[in-house]
Amino acid sequence: MRVAVLGGTGSFGRALAERLRAAGEEVAIGSRDPGRAREAAAQLEVSGGGNEEILAGVDLAVLAVKAEAAVETARELAGALGSTPLLCVASELRFSGGVARSAGGSSIAERVAEVVAAPVAAGLHSLAARNLGGAEAPDEDALVCGDDAGAKERALELAGKLVAGRAVDAGPLAVAAALEGLTAVIVNVNRRYKAHAGVRLTGLP
Ligand SMILES: NC(=O)c1ccc[n+]([C@@H]2O[C@H](COP(=O)([O-])OP(=O)(O)OC[C@H]3O[C@@H](n4cnc5c(N)ncnc54)[C@H](OP(=O)(O)O)[C@@H]3O)[C@@H](O)[C@H]2O)c1
Repeated sequence: MRVAVLGGTGSFGRALAERLRAAGEEVAIGSRDPGRAREAAAQLEVSGGGNEEILAGVDLAVLAVKAEAAVETARELAGALGSTPLLCVASELRFSGGVARSAGGSSIAERVAEVVAAPVAAGLHSLAARNLGGAEAPDEDALVCGDDAGAKERALELAGKLVAGRAVDAGPLAVAAALEGLTAVIVNVNRRYKAHAGVRLTGLP
């Protein structure tokens, strides 16, 4: 699979690119600054370039920019993205009085879907960059949701290459808010127990 990681210079994008390269996938990381992407890409032994430029010919794009910039970046890249499936991994958190999802309303993924023509899936929220970038694939499941069957299938295929656990179809894009909120749950748990927790579902066939 050919994957473009938009904002791949960040900690999540780098860990994702590293894990995908180790799985034998073709990865390009992007940045607003093509030089920065190429520098990071050289370290990771993948390709790199401007966010728009790396979208050419890929099977899946991962929107891995800073969460607060996800919707605006998707809007800016909508033309270059065309009909390429887009996986949104963003969770916007507030850190006062414990960690929680930022003020209610629709999820980031649903807002992204409103500004692009491409089919949007959401997922990987519970995979911390630190765990994803470790020596071994993390012993976790990866949850993905979406309304478009093709985009979700591709996102699930990607998710399956990242974890030692399962890639799990969590339902329609309407549950993206729950997945985004799961990040807050994990951050609170990690703080409370000084841990690096991940998610594993039980009872699946
Ligand atoms: N960190 C985790 O453990 C984790 C886990 C699961 C999901 N996520 C999600 O993954 C995404 C990336 O997380 P991260 O921790 O890697 O974030 P980050 O390091 O803060 O940002 C990632 C990249 O976003 C780009 N960026 C920053 N401000 C921007 C702006 N105003 N417009 C466009 N691009 C901008 C930067 O790339 P350039 O400056 O090179 O353009 C930066 O390297 C977030 O949506 C987060 O919610 C993170």
